[in-house]
Amino acid sequence: MELLKNKVLQEGIVLGEQVLKVDSFLNHQVDPVLMMEIGKEFAARFAGERITKVLTIESSGIAPAVMTALQLGVPLIFARKRKSLTLRDDLLTEKVYSFTKQEESEVSVSKKFLSPGDRVLLIDDFLANGEAAFGLARISEKAGATVAGIGIVIEKAFQPGGRKLLDAGYRVESLAPIASLADGRVTFADKPEP
Ligand code: G4P
Ligand code: NA
Ligand code: NA
Repeated sequence: MELLKNKVLQEGIVLGEQVLKVDSFLNHQVDPVLMMEIGKEFAARFAGERITKVLTIESSGIAPAVMTALQLGVPLIFARKRKSLTLRDDLLTEKVYSFTKQEESEVSVSKKFLSPGDRVLLIDDFLANGEAAFGLARISEKAGATVAGIGIVIEKAFQPGGRKLLDAGYRVESLAPIASLADGRVTFADKPEP
């Protein structure tokens, strides 16, 4: 997606070879016009999938996910990271290990928002090792729902998440796949634009 790639090139800050900072439009300040275009792009790519719910994890997945849900005309659910003190029995909870942060967290979705028959589109801001996406997929599947696809705003394609998700049989669409952050600059993976 050229608009997004140009924004990454203009405003992204490379923090070493592993991490890209994009807090001016995605992770802290949010560019709503860009998010709307991202939502349109995901909606177009998954148009044939009969999506019934969009699912993400708080917090940075919410902006692109809500725009995608708006375009598809379905609800957005965001999995919560904060431990709920009540209603434990009504939650689908999965452990997610972050290699980037080197910590394990629990993410939860209320059972009442996912059902058998739902076709779920998972959306996230970044894809690194795939742990968050696999956690959301396990939650969806525990509910009896089908993961119809995974939409990623920025994929660090030099990390293993994308390959692992494809190997597991999921359809993954990433709008700005990055091949390398070496030498202080962003090099996009050479994937053809749709
Ligand atoms: P994984 O799910 O693919 O395995 O990724 P990982 O655990 O490594 O990611 C942990 C957190 O770090 C996630 O945010 C993820 O979006 C973010 N992250 C990973 N790599 C990068 C990067 O290169 N740049 C930026 N800006 N973020 C990265 P989170 O903890 O869920 O926080 P939030 O932003 O959603 O609140
Ligand atoms: Na994030
Ligand atoms: Na995220």
